[in-house]
Amino acid sequence: MKITPHHAAPRATPLHPLRLAPRPEPHTSLVTGATAGIGRAIARGLAAHGSRVVLASRDRARGLEAADDIARATGAEVELLEVDLAEQRSIRRAAAEALERFGRIDVLVNDAAVWSVRRAETAEGIERTWAVNVLGYFLLTHLLTERLVASAPARVVNVASGLAHSLDLDDVELRRRSYRGVTAYAQSKQANRMLTRAFARRLTARGVAVSAMHPGFTRTEAFAKGGGVQGALAGLGARLFGKPPERGADTAIWLATAPELAGIGGGYFEDRCERACEHTDEAAEEALYALCERMTGVA
Ligand SMILES: NC(=O)c1ccc[n+]([C@@H]2O[C@H](COP(=O)([O-])OP(=O)(O)OC[C@H]3O[C@@H](n4cnc5c(N)ncnc54)[C@H](OP(=O)(O)O)[C@@H]3O)[C@@H](O)[C@H]2O)c1
Repeated sequence: MKITPHHAAPRATPLHPLRLAPRPEPHTSLVTGATAGIGRAIARGLAAHGSRVVLASRDRARGLEAADDIARATGAEVELLEVDLAEQRSIRRAAAEALERFGRIDVLVNDAAVWSVRRAETAEGIERTWAVNVLGYFLLTHLLTERLVASAPARVVNVASGLAHSLDLDDVELRRRSYRGVTAYAQSKQANRMLTRAFARRLTARGVAVSAMHPGFTRTEAFAKGGGVQGALAGLGARLFGKPPERGADTAIWLATAPELAGIGGGYFEDRCERACEHTDEAAEEALYALCERMTGVA
């Protein structure tokens, strides 16, 4: 007689009818850039605070390695979400997957960023630094907004920088100006701070606190990845003088978790202190927000 799986393993009849209450969704933090540097330290810190952590990574192998490491170190539930933040198609697919898989999103940390000595464009034809560092933050936040609101009180932390200048709303992709990696990077980080206030105007009253922070000069591979002599020298400087990633991550973890910050949105922080931002201009922030809406097709 052919043994079918049905014969081999007859279904057991439970002694008591199973009436399990649905498991409550755990507090959930989604972190981009979590495979390396500051983002990885933020993810680990949030996991140590007891949050389920979703690592958004463009590379499955690097993501799994980070997830395994963080789960072992903290005992937390760690999940992987694959996304290439340079590509809007990928962000839309990943956001839809996140909404399907995770019932709540209490914290979103936008950390993933790049800088490059050479100008490059994404497969969608957008200057790469602008695509990842600005449109990546913008579109992911936009697509997850209603889930953050439904999970309120919720928080969004945008990892920005003290190096923030040169934003030209008529030339964000450096098509007219000659390309310099530092210009592309610094304008993207100025945009991170300005968009933080634009999102805060929309979301604070809906229970989502949106903040920006500067981690300080931190020992990561970000500079060396930029390429060229400039990248090598900055990378050496970071190795010699940068603070450890755990210290660079501290303010972001605090912004995501500190009870005293509940409901406070729109600030720019460094070393757990609010700093004055030299780019505070509501009209310019709204013009930037509208530009990002057009560039991501969500207007
Ligand atoms: N280091 C500093 O001194 C410093 C100072 C001020 C501000 N910051 C800010 O801190 C944040 C983190 O920088 P870091 O120094 O930690 O950099 P990092 O070590 O180079 O890490 C960058 C992270 O972003 C991810 N990433 C890059 N491009 C991506 C893409 N297209 N899709 C998905 N993920 C992508 C990387 O993933 P892969 O592993 O796949 O490459 C990596 O996980 C950035 O926002 C940066 O501007 C850093």
